[in-house]
Amino acid sequence: PLVSSTAMLNEARRNGYAVVAFNVHTLEMLQAVAEAAEETESPLIIQTTVGTVKHLGPEYVAAAATVAADRSRVPIALHLDHCTDFSLIVRCIRAGYTSVMIDASMHPFEENVRQTAKVTEIAHAAGVNVEAELGKVGGVEDDIVVAEHEALLADPDECALFLERTGVDTLAPAIGTAHGIYKGEPRIDFERIAKIAERVPVPLVLHGGSGIPEEQVKRCVSLGMAKMNVATELRILFSDAIKRVFAEHPEENDPRKYMVPAKQALKQAAAAKMRLTGAAGRA
Ligand code: 13P
Ligand code: ZN
Ligand code: NA
Repeated sequence: PLVSSTAMLNEARRNGYAVVAFNVHTLEMLQAVAEAAEETESPLIIQTTVGTVKHLGPEYVAAAATVAADRSRVPIALHLDHCTDFSLIVRCIRAGYTSVMIDASMHPFEENVRQTAKVTEIAHAAGVNVEAELGKVGGVEDDIVVAEHEALLADPDECALFLERTGVDTLAPAIGTAHGIYKGEPRIDFERIAKIAERVPVPLVLHGGSGIPEEQVKRCVSLGMAKMNVATELRILFSDAIKRVFAEHPEENDPRKYMVPAKQALKQAAAAKMRLTGAAGRA
């Protein structure tokens, strides 16, 4: 069965590695990351954005992820990424999601606390993990668009207070990373991560995982980031592999063939991320 992400993330934080959470959009992508986790013996979080939940339906996603978890020797959790809609969170929990993110980071602190506490109450009753965001992660993720000048880093004191008031299991503080591919390098505030980690004992979540240089990923993980989200890099890789097939074989019309190199590329890239964060060999 799918497991809650709470235990696997607490263990990651305790032992100084990060579980990688991959955003998937198709069955092949889901299978690819599950196979990569199995081969590298890594705990895994499969996650879908609100857009993907609306595209596929949460029941289909949960059913496929459950099959992957049932067949796997490694623990697998299913997470709802960046959700602003309480009723969709409830629907995903009912469908079988074992972890949810309430993203009320666009609201003032008190409203973020109110919405997050409400989700925590119902999610915990179902044994489901809750992630919330403080500050504002820049870039584009589905319909959530945050321009560079609007991005806001999380305040360490507010993080501690937020945890106390909401009871969240995992916290995503904005620390300078952004969704999508960076122009140049991200400007990560490592000192801020250290300060937040000092005040906040729960696993921290690194958003915007695509495009962060490897050394910087490792430094974030060593400072307390216990979950790393990766979306854009995989989406590009998967699509590029399909484009290559059609460039070479414009007559190809069999999804069972043109999806194969894409799935393979994704699997390799996912395995590399799990080795990078130290998740490999932990399951
Ligand atoms: P990237 O698209 O930069 O990998 O960010 C992923 C993410 O944070 C999903 O929540
Ligand atoms: Zn994110
Ligand atoms: Na990114």
